[in-house]
Amino acid sequence: ILPGPLLAIESSCDETACAILAPDGRVLAERLVSQEAHAAFGGVVPEIAARAHLALLPDLAGKTLESSGLARGDLAAVAASTGPGLIGGLIVGASFGKGLAIALGKPFIAINHIEAHALSARLPGVSDGQIGFPFLLLLVSGGHCQCLAVEGVGQYRRLGGTIDDAAGEAFDKVAKMLGLGWPGGPALERLAREGDPAAFALPRPLKGRAGCDFSFSGLKTAIARQLEPFGFAALPRQVAADLAASFQQAVADVIEDRATHALAMMERPTALVAAGGVAANTVLRERLTALAAAHGLPFVAPPLRLCTDNAVMVGWAALEICREATRLGLPVPDDRATRP
Ligand code: KG4
Ligand code: ZN
Repeated sequence: ILPGPLLAIESSCDETACAILAPDGRVLAERLVSQEAHAAFGGVVPEIAARAHLALLPDLAGKTLESSGLARGDLAAVAASTGPGLIGGLIVGASFGKGLAIALGKPFIAINHIEAHALSARLPGVSDGQIGFPFLLLLVSGGHCQCLAVEGVGQYRRLGGTIDDAAGEAFDKVAKMLGLGWPGGPALERLAREGDPAAFALPRPLKGRAGCDFSFSGLKTAIARQLEPFGFAALPRQVAADLAASFQQAVADVIEDRATHALAMMERPTALVAAGGVAANTVLRERLTALAAAHGLPFVAPPLRLCTDNAVMVGWAALEICREATRLGLPVPDDRATRP
């Protein structure tokens, strides 16, 4: 285990984030900036994201360190997400982290971003250590949509994933069609509260099929078709609300079905875990809570700030990796000279 705290960096998409964690996982300081420059474009622009990370990161890391009350020399390691994600931002975060680690003479720990989401359910304060292995991770965000069997630290089995759009991407695109802002998920959920989820008969792509892959592009097209009669005329609010509710219901139906299949593909799962921005959706959470209960399993979804991209989960994954290395009698991993 690490002899001191570590600095963790997240820059794989449009959040620039730093966190400092004690070796036991306590969060000593945390700072996050959600880049706002993308809203005008209705989606994340990779080039803008990378430049923003570059502009933000040095100051953010300094301020995080300052608010932890530590000095640079107190850090025992530096960790950063090094993939998957938008390559420009990843290079900024990884180069910054690696450079700092080299200057400090301390290890640099390269973290797989999906692994960080996967292990976030085990953070102190999230599941209070209740989550053991294996568990089913349903990762549903704007960029990812997959079912992972998390069998141990470093042991992941991909059970299925989207064959076209991620769930969050579908929420965002449908929200855009309904004239809502970006990111669309939260706005669509709010509007759906005024609508009838049975108002429109929408498809449930891949529901009932073997395996646990996802598909959302057909659902998007189905919404576009329902909008055709309105042409350029303003969409009546009730129609928009009914479409939002019907869409959300269809997505929840599909995800519930896919998660049911994924659980059946695992041997003795101990929990159902959801992470990613879409896991913030109340209707989906209710469904997954009921599904887990029907299987006699706990349902765990980290609080929203830890569900979406953040540096705390990156630091926690680094600590889990260090702990596992110690258990195996291996040194702390050090990627200063290797990855990415
Ligand atoms: O994890 P995240 O912050 O970023 C990545 O994509 O990695 O997820 C953002 C996605 C967006 O597509 C957003 O529309 C969606 O999560 N989202 C939601 C809700 N809150 C955020 N989708 C449905 N319902 C929500 N309440
Ligand atoms: Zn993510």
